[in-house]
Amino acid sequence: MTQPPDKFESLLHEKRVIHPTAETKSRTYIKDYEAAYKQSIADPEAFWDQAAKELEWFSPWSKVLEWNYPWAKWFVDATCNISYNCLDRHVKTWRKNKVAVIWVGEQGEERIFTYAELYRQVNRCANALKSLGLKKGDRVTIYLPKIPEQIVAMLACARIGVIHSVVYSGFSAPALQSRIQDSEARLVITADVGYDRSKVVNLKIVVDQAVANCPTVEKVVVVRRQQPGVPLSASKEIDWYEWLKNQKPTCEPEKLDAEAPLYILYTSGTTGKPKGVVHVHGGYMVGTYLTAKYVFDLHDDDIYFCVADPGWVTGHSYIVYGPLLNGATILTAEGKPDYPDPGRWWSIIEQYGVTVFYTTPTAIRLLMKYGEDWPKKYDLSSLRVLGSVGEPINPEAWEWFYHVTGSKYPIMDTWWQTETGMILITPLPSIMLKPGSATRPFLGIEADVVDREGNSVPANTGGFAVIKKPWPAMMRTIYKDPDRYKSYWNIIPNCYTAGDVCRKDEDGYMWFMGRADDVIKVAGNRIGTAEVESALVSHHSVAEAAVIGVPHKTAGEAIKAFVILKQGEKQSAELIKALMAQVEKELGKIAVPRAIDIVPSLPKTRSGKIMRRVLKAKELGQDPGDISTLEE
Ligand code: WT7
Repeated sequence: MTQPPDKFESLLHEKRVIHPTAETKSRTYIKDYEAAYKQSIADPEAFWDQAAKELEWFSPWSKVLEWNYPWAKWFVDATCNISYNCLDRHVKTWRKNKVAVIWVGEQGEERIFTYAELYRQVNRCANALKSLGLKKGDRVTIYLPKIPEQIVAMLACARIGVIHSVVYSGFSAPALQSRIQDSEARLVITADVGYDRSKVVNLKIVVDQAVANCPTVEKVVVVRRQQPGVPLSASKEIDWYEWLKNQKPTCEPEKLDAEAPLYILYTSGTTGKPKGVVHVHGGYMVGTYLTAKYVFDLHDDDIYFCVADPGWVTGHSYIVYGPLLNGATILTAEGKPDYPDPGRWWSIIEQYGVTVFYTTPTAIRLLMKYGEDWPKKYDLSSLRVLGSVGEPINPEAWEWFYHVTGSKYPIMDTWWQTETGMILITPLPSIMLKPGSATRPFLGIEADVVDREGNSVPANTGGFAVIKKPWPAMMRTIYKDPDRYKSYWNIIPNCYTAGDVCRKDEDGYMWFMGRADDVIKVAGNRIGTAEVESALVSHHSVAEAAVIGVPHKTAGEAIKAFVILKQGEKQSAELIKALMAQVEKELGKIAVPRAIDIVPSLPKTRSGKIMRRVLKAKELGQDPGDISTLEE
């Protein structure tokens, strides 16, 4: 991260608030957030100790937390296994025949796994891994499309203490190769193909190219979806179904130290080489379990639909681990939100009676572009709780999402990171919401907005979002790069710096303003990208916007905006003027872009985040650096 600046201007002042309905309040676990929060942070270790006791451990901890700044150990000396808690804990009960996973394919196919069936599959796969000599501490790269085998493979690795490294199947061969090399994986699990808007994506070819330069890889397992199956080389490649076929459906879970690594997940910083974020069994299990339970208010009759891909941390924590730890029914659907048409997700919600729907601002804005008629066609009354993650959700998108789903389901705008493992700043269903704000810290989490010395800044002043105490699901290190891990705790004394700029309002509600690296400095005022973008998107003609800072003779930097219009909107000089006026009205003169380009698309990461530095490099004719995570 660049040098922390002194002061951020916060210009956006949303005033709307939304109170929970009586129905929401009556059902939710945490009815009085303020009281629960106060109690939790009075003694966070006691709080997490209680939470951990809701799960099963093979042997207990001697201490909840051992904190050697900035190194944390949670549930010291305890042994456990996250796959045991996701599966065996439920299979022992009536949940055995409860549906664990509903998978919907892009072509409308459906596969359903009960907890017992998922348990058997995972055990077979764990035994199959063992049959190849894989053991505790080895790494396996999982490069699969969004199919149930992805979940099975992750849990199977966890079961025997093998560390999984899931690589999103949209990544290119060089990106896959560097991730396999960094983790020194012994095995790669892949599929012949994925589907993207009916187009066949040949994954096997990507793996062939990547693995050619990865001497640590001994075998490649291939899930063959197509008939006739792609040919496999006898010496190195194995068919998934053959591999599992003769394996026993039971496999003792490895009794692992709570601090044993569970997975490595590579995340790109804004610059430089991807970082292998390491999460562990014990603390991660407790953190994802409790946040999934309270934020989404999971009960046994819920159908929980998370649109993420298990290739991202959202998929790890809130498709696979968090919900399964809760014994929930998870729905996961292959494919894009607007394919075959923009009614895709709404129709899935109607068809399966989805009760909890967790999505992203990018997807909401995309669906917004197609208008209200699509959600209106479907019965969405099964819903109870909505969620958003990945970027700041601008108040217009928030309101739209709220409105088209019936104006009564609370939206959990969850702020967290790959590194944090679990949701940290978030509403709970029972609290008052403010559209555009991620609201308050989760129970047991102490968060603040500070200047570069670590002093709290006054209400409604921008600063750095920081977390002041360790939490159980925090990353333990960056794989093979402890110094890079330490840097998160070194930027501002005595806390974890997330790299986001944020403000707290007079109610202590947190408003994220974008990444510190993207902040624009106009005439000495630091302006968060999210605020200007939100102001642009609040104009009825705009679907999406991105802003960057470009050098300016007098102001230091000037704001340049890139805007995608809604369907049917026409570009004109008047429109540009109107957009500038809109920003002035929302934020003031200082934030008005000097130039606005209307564009057909924006450079995004494969997880849907706008890559402002790519826009900037292009604008300035510079080298954009590492673009392996770029979608198109
Ligand atoms: C960064 C982390 C967390 C899972 C998916 C992304 C931004 C994430 C929000 C939110 C405002 C958000 C932050 C954060 N972010 N959620 N609700 N409001 N910003 O994980 O790829 O590690 O990205 O995403 O900038 O630092 P990630």
